[in-house]
Amino acid sequence: MAKKHYSIGLWNMKTMFHCSVVMFLVGGLATLIFYRNNNQEAINSNATVILVSMNTSMPTTENKSVDTNTITDTNTNTRVFDHQRRLKIAPPTLTDTCDLFSGRWIHDNKSHYPLYKEEECPYLNADLACLTYGRKDSKYQQWRWQPHGCDFPKFDGKAIVEKLKGKRLLFVGDSVNRNQWDSMMCMLHSSIPGKKKLNMGGLNRTLYSFRSIEYNISIDYYWAPMLVESNGDDPSNHRLDHRTIRINAIEKHARHWVDADILIFNTYLWWRLPIIKFLKSAGSLLGGPNQVYDEVNNVHAYKKVLEVWSKWVHIHIDPSKTKMFFMGLTATHSSAKDWGGKKYGTCYKETEPVMDEGFWESGTNPKMLHILESSLRKLKAKGVNVQLINITQLTQCRKDAHPTVHRKLWVPFTDAQKKNPERASDCTHWCLPGVPDIWNELLLAHIFPVTETGNLYKQR
Ligand SMILES: *[C@@H]1O[C@H](CO)[C@@H](O)[C@H](O)[C@H]1NC(C)=O
Ligand SMILES: *[C@@H]1O[C@H](CO)[C@@H](O)[C@H](O)[C@H]1NC(C)=O
Ligand SMILES: *[C@@H]1O[C@H](CO)[C@@H](O)[C@H](O)[C@H]1NC(C)=O
Ligand SMILES: *[C@@H]1O[C@H](CO)[C@@H](O)[C@H](O)[C@H]1NC(C)=O
Ligand SMILES: *[C@@H]1O[C@H](CO)[C@@H](O)[C@H](O)[C@H]1NC(C)=O
Ligand SMILES: *[C@@H]1O[C@H](CO)[C@@H](O)[C@H](O)[C@H]1NC(C)=O
Ligand SMILES: *[C@@H]1O[C@H](CO)[C@@H](O)[C@H](O)[C@H]1NC(C)=O
Repeated sequence: MAKKHYSIGLWNMKTMFHCSVVMFLVGGLATLIFYRNNNQEAINSNATVILVSMNTSMPTTENKSVDTNTITDTNTNTRVFDHQRRLKIAPPTLTDTCDLFSGRWIHDNKSHYPLYKEEECPYLNADLACLTYGRKDSKYQQWRWQPHGCDFPKFDGKAIVEKLKGKRLLFVGDSVNRNQWDSMMCMLHSSIPGKKKLNMGGLNRTLYSFRSIEYNISIDYYWAPMLVESNGDDPSNHRLDHRTIRINAIEKHARHWVDADILIFNTYLWWRLPIIKFLKSAGSLLGGPNQVYDEVNNVHAYKKVLEVWSKWVHIHIDPSKTKMFFMGLTATHSSAKDWGGKKYGTCYKETEPVMDEGFWESGTNPKMLHILESSLRKLKAKGVNVQLINITQLTQCRKDAHPTVHRKLWVPFTDAQKKNPERASDCTHWCLPGVPDIWNELLLAHIFPVTETGNLYKQR
């Protein structure tokens, strides 16, 4: 029997798919390395080993081979091999030398996918538990991602959990980032011993926190679909046909992000309506009547919000303490014409990915991806590294991986929806286990980089 999956009514699917305007969100992120777990000290043939002479004023350079554990204690001139000061040459990591995001999907029913089963994950949102809610085919769970240039580490939950001890990981953004947070909990919970708690009611229900007491690990999610203050800020009631924001107001949300060790942002889908309203009057309610606002083209608005966010990150986040990531735009498959399907078709009943590696669905705006990339480049030029987890292309092909109608319906379908399941389908979020598990594997490969010779998952 399947376990009950949590149901929170966070987003009202009925209303969501009612809206003729698609309003969803996607995210992306970026990386800061705060601990290279692989700082094996390498002395290459070209390196000079410095022996510090403690008792003479002059350090001596030696070229003999040295037993690294030896402290040479000769009579008067005590020479101590200084481990701290030894020349450290970190070998290049996999993510330095290989673009993990350029690759292809390979069907592999002998691989270790899926990483977990729906009924094994008590934290799985019922909106994403596709098999539990009637999906009959499960091939979508068996695809693995194969980068062109290399293999990436096989997922090892226990090893990751050890490295996460004492750390707080925080996803910030829209419901696609929440989808990924669900995936992360499902991937890791069985490797975390001891008591675990899920609290979905923090900070007026904008903060969801999964905590392991014994290991002191927090895997959290903060609802801020447009990062700045918006009329979508209520996590359970944001059924709106327009987007109104305070473009410069990020602090109210962002002050809750600063103490994370690993921050994973996204925002995209909520910026896809053609016009975003920038509120002018400071005090007025975001959702209220009689507002004074500027109407701003959405692409321009997206650029602006990333500027505001970048400025905040630059000022408030200490990159030596916090690694940062931004999730790339994710595909929505609401137009089957894009892959040669039916004229009014969507992802409904799709069971196979698109096998064309360069496929690009019409709902993904490449201009916005460029804006995101350029925002992160500018930040990097200022010394702030937010690593893009560039999943845009890899999501394009996976028209088979959405919940469609196979999810908990908070409100039963209307007769009109029953007649038109294509339109009633969720083609924005992703079934779990499924594609977001791969995003997390790629994310983890950047959080904890391995060397090229490390423990890679070889299966070509
Ligand atoms: C030694 O280091 C120098 C300077 O970093 C470099 O130009 C040279 O190629 C290196 N030689 C070897 C054998 O690695
Ligand atoms: C040098 O060696 C002498 C005798 O072993 C010791 O007393 C002295 O503290 C040493 N000096 C330094 C700078 O380590
Ligand atoms: C270093 O090595 C060179 C040859 O490899 C040798 O001629 C020289 O004497 C060595 N220097 C020391 C200080 O051992
Ligand atoms: C695995 O997939 C192959 C085709 O890719 C199929 O022929 C085979 O029946 C599958 N095996 C299982 C156990 O599902
Ligand atoms: C638990 O981890 C947090 C960081 O997430 C840290 O601030 C705190 O000191 C840790 N608590 C204990 C008891 O180790
Ligand atoms: C929660 O919302 C209420 C009403 O909107 C507000 O007064 C309060 O300050 C909020 N609390 C937090 C922690 O944001
Ligand atoms: C991200 O992926 C897109 C599509 O595959 C590619 O065009 C782009 O160059 C990538 N961006 C970065 C920063 O790697």
